[in-house]
Amino acid sequence: MWKKLNQSQIRERIFEALRKNRGFRGENVLGLPASYLDTKVFSPDHALLDNAPFLSTMVENPNHIGCHTLEQSEAYFEGTHALEREVIRICAEQIMGAEEDTCDGYVASGGTEANLQAIWIYRNYFLNECGAKHEEIAIIGSEHTHYSTAKAANVLNIRWAKVETDKNTMAVNKSGIEDSITGLEKEGIRYFIVVANMMTTMFGSVDDVNLYVDALSSRNLEFKVHVDAAFGGFYYPFSSDDTRLTFQNPHVTSITMDAHKMAQAPYGTGVFLIRKGWMQHAHTKEASYVEGQDSTLIGSRSGANSIAVWMILMTYGKFGWHEKIFVLQKRTDWLCEQLDQHQIRYFRNPNSNIVTIDSSELSAEIATNFGLVPDNHNAPDWYKIVVMEHVEIEHLELFLNQIIPEFVS
Ligand SMILES: Cc1ncc(COP(=O)(O)O)c(C=O)c1O
Repeated sequence: MWKKLNQSQIRERIFEALRKNRGFRGENVLGLPASYLDTKVFSPDHALLDNAPFLSTMVENPNHIGCHTLEQSEAYFEGTHALEREVIRICAEQIMGAEEDTCDGYVASGGTEANLQAIWIYRNYFLNECGAKHEEIAIIGSEHTHYSTAKAANVLNIRWAKVETDKNTMAVNKSGIEDSITGLEKEGIRYFIVVANMMTTMFGSVDDVNLYVDALSSRNLEFKVHVDAAFGGFYYPFSSDDTRLTFQNPHVTSITMDAHKMAQAPYGTGVFLIRKGWMQHAHTKEASYVEGQDSTLIGSRSGANSIAVWMILMTYGKFGWHEKIFVLQKRTDWLCEQLDQHQIRYFRNPNSNIVTIDSSELSAEIATNFGLVPDNHNAPDWYKIVVMEHVEIEHLELFLNQIIPEFVS
């Protein structure tokens, strides 16, 4: 299903999808509070747009409001909605190992929204189906979990509890989880929303989700598991055989992936995936003017973002994506070999392209010059390098020359 297409096949599929939309040009669309992009500002220049499916979609401006994997959704933009459904199926089934047609999902604005969407769904489930009170529900995740989880706890009025991590793996371990749950139980927490990380923001560390599952099940506590693969979703499944954080694990109910990180899509392109039967807990029936109402956090959103991810996935195909990640793994291995040879302290999960260097190994000036990101801008303990497409060996060599005076590659 996830087969590489050539540029003209991609163009043809997208223009066909745009034709299937009830566009604002040439059709009687009188009631939508929107139109194509303002032609005085964004010229509909055919010489440019006829060969540019992404820009054409931007200009046509389809709205992807709602969730299009559910039975009913807006009919106006059905053509491009169908391509978004393909994106969701590729991500859920081909990358995250779900069975055919078992997942819903949508292209969210980013990792923050997708994480909030998951936590919102589970909070509502605990409140409405289990009779929980807000103060009995906690999100639990490693201390290196992205701050969007703290944001979700604040917005949704539930607890956020950090689990201390193992200093060797930067991931959760059994004792940290047991201590955390014991403390939370004493404080009256009965319902747990687990956020397990497939590559944390700062360290690229990966949590063993089964440690949470075992600890919570053995105490007969209610829990749901969300995987934050905002960074790792387009990397880790290609660099490792570990399926614990995918839909192959029956305990995983939802996953966040971000196409605007490793997949190099334009910003505004997160991917939210969830097993069928769960979106309904975020269903806003008051959205009565939207066909199928709305089960997403965001409301209106640009169809161009979905088209961008679809184009990227189709340009590479499954094998092309494996090759892309293989190259980044090799570059990261090379960097780590150099650091090892010169006894520079750093952390790297072996299946990740994030290398996080102890701040004592370099000056703040070098970190700034090379655009390394600190864990804390006021008092950095760590600086990270993310080996992305634009980070080549030649760039890494220049950096190594600065931190290791005797460096020769
Ligand atoms: C692991 C993880 N989760 C969530 C997010 C939030 O993503 P966004 O900035 O797209 O909202 C990030 C961003 O860096 C991240 O690394």
